[in-house]
Amino acid sequence: MSCKLIAILLCIHLASGQTVPSFVPNSLKRFSNGTNFTSLLLVDRALYVGARDLLLKLDSADIESNKGLYTSLSLATNSDQKEQCISTYYDEKLCSNFIKFVLHRPSFKDLYVCGSYSFQPRLFQLSYDLNLIKEDDGYGYCSLNPMDSSTAIWIDNGNPMNIPSLYSASYLDASTKTQPVEPVIYRPELRRADKSFHYLRSPKFDSDWLSQPHFLKSFDVDDYVLFFFREKSVEQVAEAQDQNYARVVRVCKSDAGALKLGNLWSSMRKTRLTCVYNNTYLNRLEDIVRVSADLFVGLFSLRLPGQSSVSFLCEFSKESLLNGLNSASNSFKEIMAGTQYWSKVSDNRIPKNFPNQCNYNSQLLKDDVINFVKTHSLIGDHIEGPIIHFVNKHAISVAHERLDLKLVNQAVFPLETLPGTDITVNVFYFGTDDGKIIKMSSYDSQKVIAQWNLETNGIKQLKLKKDKSLFAISDDSVYQVELNLQCSKYYTCGLCMSDPHCGWNIRTNLCESIKSNSNLVNLNTNLCSRLERHENIKSVEVESGSALLLECNVKDQYLFGLIEWKKDQISITTKNQNVFFTWNKDLIILNGNASYNGVYNCYADKHELLSSYNVVYKSDATKSSLEISSSGQKCITAESYIKQYNNWCDEYNRYHRALNDWEEMKDKLFESRQKLMSLNVTNVYIRFKTN
Ligand SMILES: *[C@@H]1O[C@H](CO)[C@@H](O)[C@H](O)[C@H]1NC(C)=O
Ligand SMILES: *[C@@H]1O[C@H](CO)[C@@H](O)[C@H](O)[C@H]1NC(C)=O
Ligand SMILES: *[C@@H]1O[C@H](CO)[C@@H](O)[C@H](O)[C@H]1NC(C)=O
Ligand SMILES: *[C@@H]1O[C@H](CO)[C@@H](O)[C@H](O)[C@H]1NC(C)=O
Ligand SMILES: *[C@@H]1O[C@H](CO)[C@@H](O)[C@H](O)[C@H]1NC(C)=O
Repeated sequence: MSCKLIAILLCIHLASGQTVPSFVPNSLKRFSNGTNFTSLLLVDRALYVGARDLLLKLDSADIESNKGLYTSLSLATNSDQKEQCISTYYDEKLCSNFIKFVLHRPSFKDLYVCGSYSFQPRLFQLSYDLNLIKEDDGYGYCSLNPMDSSTAIWIDNGNPMNIPSLYSASYLDASTKTQPVEPVIYRPELRRADKSFHYLRSPKFDSDWLSQPHFLKSFDVDDYVLFFFREKSVEQVAEAQDQNYARVVRVCKSDAGALKLGNLWSSMRKTRLTCVYNNTYLNRLEDIVRVSADLFVGLFSLRLPGQSSVSFLCEFSKESLLNGLNSASNSFKEIMAGTQYWSKVSDNRIPKNFPNQCNYNSQLLKDDVINFVKTHSLIGDHIEGPIIHFVNKHAISVAHERLDLKLVNQAVFPLETLPGTDITVNVFYFGTDDGKIIKMSSYDSQKVIAQWNLETNGIKQLKLKKDKSLFAISDDSVYQVELNLQCSKYYTCGLCMSDPHCGWNIRTNLCESIKSNSNLVNLNTNLCSRLERHENIKSVEVESGSALLLECNVKDQYLFGLIEWKKDQISITTKNQNVFFTWNKDLIILNGNASYNGVYNCYADKHELLSSYNVVYKSDATKSSLEISSSGQKCITAESYIKQYNNWCDEYNRYHRALNDWEEMKDKLFESRQKLMSLNVTNVYIRFKTN
């Protein structure tokens, strides 16, 4: 009866797998004394992390260490505030102090921290050792409701009279049952001695300016502060589409407001960002990073019809962003009178001397300019960025690392790049909504180098300490991945060479960190195929009609999806019902004969040979008795096998048991490869007795 199971067993082990090296990082460090971690900030060796009711200073060399640098500061709200919060907002879970940002102010040598503080946002000015210097009201600086987004940036230079200031985007109030919520882009009052500039903000409750935005990041870019977010599109209302658009807003740092504008910005403009995939505009901006002074990279996600989401990285040059936001001529938009349609404002309606850049004195603006500014913020159709990477997952955060490498050892193979060639590689890390980190690089923009599984929920933020560590946070943990300790996880030359942190040691055939050994070949996947070792081909003689197991020697589970078997250089598929793959990518041939003679190679990652067999079937004297009755069946299934060779059932049971044993070893395999060796399945032939 167990014989019947064989067919089923073989079927469920058919190839189905990942196509990505996927593993838990080596020496992964985790800190989880706290919840709702946010806002990673690196200042020298310290890693500051915001959490619920808590601010932490961790040692970036070892976040698990609670000695030395480690400090924590409780920033909990008192019980009165908490009770008041609960009675007003009902949801106790939100009535705590969720830290929304932790900023460094180098010129003040301090930290500037804002927390939701039971719906009464509060600002804390702290020393590097987390001593409280001052605290203040935080309305407008960060959102009241911890579920509402916010972003902020400290700007030292370029403001009126060069007075340093915070710029923020947040929600000014919180959702109660009756009140709509009010988003704002804000700069508080600037004061120096007897001079002051009143606060500036976006218009109140005006969806043309901000429409249910989800704020992401803010940047200091030349004369401007840029805010990136996504929001409900106003332009689409007419077509009754409920769509979110990615946006960038600029304000001028030098904006000093104007009497006739009240407290409104004179310089606020917004436009749409997108990139195009398969004739579809991508709209859901998830995160954005500045890769260099002149380049930004946006992370977009797209939900596919089958409910799963995929992600894209798209490039936006500073030039394209500023051009898109500044060219007022013929590109402002407004609602056509009497309709709901947005159209371009014709040039002749734009006031003369309308400022395109920040080089104007807002307090001297003419009335016609002021009136125009009051009613126009949307500009241009959209700014489109090219796609540079694609990830088959829903990524929600991204980090960037620029590596300047010297290809030292290409001289070993004289045809390669000249030794000493300097190259720059951009490496991107994607944090996914299901707790994974994906690594890609500009060396091969199509290839996923590695997928690290952190076994947590969404990776909300990533931060890099260049060339050393990657920090990640989810709601329940802070993680530290040592970038130079991952190399030994790449078991093949090709995977190793595609990671810019690693190189292949051609003497030992091992993958090592380029930091640890300068004698490695790196970023040269072409070389790998030339390192194939054909002398390892094994000769296999086998009787016709018997079953044969050929081992691939896959060293780690993540390689399973990258395995391909070839016979005489032609890919083997399981279309032939006599051919099966085991769960660990070994090849089984049932009932073979001379037509199966040939060289069988098992490759990882397309061109890396893991094992090679020269198989020869001997014609057998008892062959005729082995032949399947000509019942019209072309392919033998396990069941017909059993029917015809009843007396082989014992062998099948043994085979079945062996498969079960392998199955059990599957999990243990990765704990200890030793145990696999002790299973002693190397070059096992499963022969079925003929008597
Ligand atoms: C805080 O973390 C918990 C999980 O630990 C999560 O369910 C909750 O949504 C988080 N709250 C906020 C405001 O992020
Ligand atoms: C985390 O909490 C545990 C148990 O409360 C404690 O033993 C440990 O020292 C804490 N670690 C740090 C870094 O505070
Ligand atoms: C492109 O879109 C079309 C229609 O929406 C779809 O059938 C096709 O599979 C898409 N192609 C890719 C590569 O996503
Ligand atoms: C060998 O096996 C194949 C099917 O697997 C069959 O088509 C072929 O006739 C066999 N050849 C000989 C010589 O038995
Ligand atoms: C593995 O099998 C071979 C041949 O059957 C035998 O010589 C060897 O001792 C076995 N090794 C172990 C560890 O059982």
